[in-house]
Amino acid sequence: MKFQGSDQYVATPDLMLAVNAAVTLQRPLLVKGEPGTGKTMLAEQVAEAMGLPLLQWHIKSTTKAQQGLYEYDAVSRLRDSQLSGVGDSEKVRDIRNYIVKGVLWQAFTAEQPVALLIDEIDKADIEFPNDLLREIDRMEFYVYETRELIKAKHRPIVFITSNNEKELPDAFLRRCFFHYIKFPEAETMQRIVDVHFPGLKKELLGAALKTFYDVRNLPGLKKKPSTSELLDWLKLLVAEDIPLEVLQSKDEKVAVPPLVGALLKNEQDVTLFEKLVFMQRHNR
Ligand SMILES: Nc1ncnc2c1ncn2[C@@H]1O[C@H](COP(=O)(O)OP(=O)(O)OP(=O)(O)O)[C@@H](O)[C@H]1O
Ligand SMILES: [Mg+2]
Repeated sequence: MKFQGSDQYVATPDLMLAVNAAVTLQRPLLVKGEPGTGKTMLAEQVAEAMGLPLLQWHIKSTTKAQQGLYEYDAVSRLRDSQLSGVGDSEKVRDIRNYIVKGVLWQAFTAEQPVALLIDEIDKADIEFPNDLLREIDRMEFYVYETRELIKAKHRPIVFITSNNEKELPDAFLRRCFFHYIKFPEAETMQRIVDVHFPGLKKELLGAALKTFYDVRNLPGLKKKPSTSELLDWLKLLVAEDIPLEVLQSKDEKVAVPPLVGALLKNEQDVTLFEKLVFMQRHNR
């Protein structure tokens, strides 16, 4: 089945091509892009469109590769051995009762094919991707405690997202198909907004998009607002019933857009924006 986007997710042709290429190659799809450009949502939507359950592994700075495979719960075993009556000692003796399966194990042993999301891989330390090379390549790993080899019954469709906080090792990159989600152009953005706010008035959307791209194109901005911030802002504009005129900068009235806190997230950016508005007003 080819991925074509969905009624909740707008996929550009190059993104669809990338998803289908990764599926064909049976390699993980490594997705990069600015925050809020739909990387995580892509995995959810592809899984839904293909009718596959999605297993998610959200990576933090403390996450270790081993946790995705399995963990040996020695503490519970010790506690059980101390507390156990005669009947429980069977359980304590069998180490398998204390092996906690990780997400990769679950994905490998699932009865039906699944999709697997490894979200924000760049949050973990540099060894993390290297530690998963074999698992991702061969789709198998060895459990030392029980001396068994866990092999994938079906190759999962793997999505890996990164916000580029750290470089990924070459050996890891070699095993992935890469796609960078470019920031949507106005036309694509309009389609994305349509998906979320089908009934939005054309004029309001046009004016809001213009302000949004003006803000994004400000030189020297520390944090550019993203798709999800635009959607937040539009939601507020609709909820507060902000009139169109406030957004359309007439010659005599250039103002800081209302609720700009949805778009700009630090005081330097707000000050920069206010300065620009002030200068525009004086140049008139
Ligand atoms: N192509 C799109 N179609 C529809 N909605 C989108 C699209 N891109 C982004 N969105 C909206 O933006 C929100 C943020 O998307 P998502 O959480 O997937 O971003 P992300 O790239 O994973 O961000 P981060 O890097 O911060 O995790 C989504 O909940 C969705 O509402
Ligand atoms: Mg995300």
